[in-house]
Amino acid sequence: MSRPQYAGNGGNGMPDKNTIEMLIDQALSMMDRSYIPYSNFAVGAALLCEDGSVYTGCNIENAAFTPTICAERTAFFKAVSEGKTSFKAIAIAGGADRIPDAMTSPCGVCRQVMMEFCDPADFYVIMAAGRKSCRVLSLQELLPLGFGPGNMKIRPLGHES
Ligand code: THU
Repeated sequence: MSRPQYAGNGGNGMPDKNTIEMLIDQALSMMDRSYIPYSNFAVGAALLCEDGSVYTGCNIENAAFTPTICAERTAFFKAVSEGKTSFKAIAIAGGADRIPDAMTSPCGVCRQVMMEFCDPADFYVIMAAGRKSCRVLSLQELLPLGFGPGNMKIRPLGHES
């Protein structure tokens, strides 16, 4: 499997309002699946693929702590393992006691995983505060000067030609 060279279109691919709301709803409902005995902080994610399919994820914690995986990476790894290679956006919802009352922004490790598979200028991170409000930023805004496959002149997954 080869890796990414981005077929980005200069950042005009931000999902429309209905799509954003649909992704937020899925991220919010995934918070119920979070396995969070240690932090009690639930996170749900919904990842929109270029072909319109959506892969969801939740955070899954571990007694040894470091094996814990974030909701965003769960969604990415589910999608990639099913053969998806092109992505448009991810919605994230989170909160203590499973109450999504404030915005959750992705951790550095998850941003780096996004960098592996997405065009930083044309992949959007939707950070929801419940259904009330959200903030949408490109990966480039969240991870300026990020290091990715392009820096190694490696072609991204799904863009090998
Ligand atoms: N977490 C996520 O799942 N995504 C984020 O964007 C931030 C943090 C999880 C990891 C851990 O299970 C809990 O939230 C507290 O850090």
